[in-house]
Amino acid sequence: MFGRSLNERRRLARRAGRAHRSAVMIGAAAICWAATCPAQTPSPNPAVKLAQNWDLVEPISPVPADISLDPARVSLGERLFRDKRLSIDDTRSCATCHPVEKGAMDGRARGIAVDGRPRLRNTPTLFNVGLNTSFNWDGATSTLEAHAERLLLNLDVMGSTWPALLAKLQADPGYRSAFSSAYPQGITQANLLNALATFERSLVTPNARFDRFLRGETKALTAEERQGYELFKSYGCIACHQGVNIGGNLFQKFGIFQDPDAQRGSKTDVDVGRYAVTKVERDRGVFRVPSLRNVALSAPYFHDGRMPTLEGAVETMARVQLGRALTGQEIGAIVRFLHTLTGEYRNQHSTIAAPGTP
Ligand code: HEC
Ligand code: HEC
Repeated sequence: MFGRSLNERRRLARRAGRAHRSAVMIGAAAICWAATCPAQTPSPNPAVKLAQNWDLVEPISPVPADISLDPARVSLGERLFRDKRLSIDDTRSCATCHPVEKGAMDGRARGIAVDGRPRLRNTPTLFNVGLNTSFNWDGATSTLEAHAERLLLNLDVMGSTWPALLAKLQADPGYRSAFSSAYPQGITQANLLNALATFERSLVTPNARFDRFLRGETKALTAEERQGYELFKSYGCIACHQGVNIGGNLFQKFGIFQDPDAQRGSKTDVDVGRYAVTKVERDRGVFRVPSLRNVALSAPYFHDGRMPTLEGAVETMARVQLGRALTGQEIGAIVRFLHTLTGEYRNQHSTIAAPGTP
């Protein structure tokens, strides 16, 4: 699939060149005031490397279909991901909030903590999570292993402890043999984290219609969807949402031209965003730019799930990030384009997460 002739790549690059360059200029002007600006961290994931080749042609590259991961570790990781015993009181698994059959997120505005209260933030989809360069809305961690440990021990999420977790796994002959087939050292903290992270890296969704279009299938998109993509580039959405995951690799202030709370009448957002991680004043209200892959499946939107519809999210973005009022037709075209970013997980489309039915 990367076997395009050099001439074909040059032709594509010329076609995309103008829009790409203007986006990069917007990017240069708008992008870098968050203390921890992008610096594309080298990723251990071979998929990221492969995908980066595409940057020469378009500002977005297709999700690679083949990622080489050890199948024994993927399947052990999946079993752990779905196992409620990973939580201290055996009431919830990772899949409770990230059901892979339903968009890999819970469809709620905000996740529900162990004590039943809503958590601060919306649950992100885990599809293509291995292609992000940092995790959580504030970029709290930069490896999936470190992230998994944080969750297992977080009192609001799984609330477990290492001794409790390892004891449960050791007591289960199924886990003892699955671990020793996948890892020479058997059950250890590092291997548990690696198995979970390996399963998460396997959650790629290739073959979105948009990716087929990028690979040269021009008829994969309708005229309106193509117009949506052109607007996405020419209006500058692409300055923040770009790369293989169409986001997931930058931090940006939410509300560059206008306070996103302005239309709510009062300052209701208490989330300090990236400031929670860096304690640098200018990171207050800065969030990780989310991936837009499968975004049609992951309503409601934004870090606190304030926006129920994709139309509303696009209108807000244009207004608060770009200082632009879009027409209904333009919003419609961009939304049509965003719908073409839904890929296939294990050769099937996932369905939309429904709140309360994980
Ligand atoms: C109570 C619901 C809940 C449970 C259970 C849960 N998560 Fe999450 N998950 C969330 C929320 C909410 C966030 C966003 C947190 C933030 O940004 O502060 C999140 C974020 C993530 C992210 C970061 C995604 C990204 O793109 O940044 C990963 C990875 C993740 N969870 C994996 C897991 C794993 C693995 C487990 C099981 C060990 C798990 N989650 C259990 C609700 C949950
Ligand atoms: C200056 C950077 C920037 C630009 C330009 C930008 N975005 Fe965003 N986008 C963000 C950030 C940051 C968020 C997360 C906001 C939050 O919830 O805190 C986001 C969130 C979103 C979401 C919600 C995703 C989710 O899972 O909740 C959508 C949809 C979106 N953007 C689409 C667009 C579109 C369409 C455009 C162009 C009209 C655009 N963005 C322009 C930075 C940007």
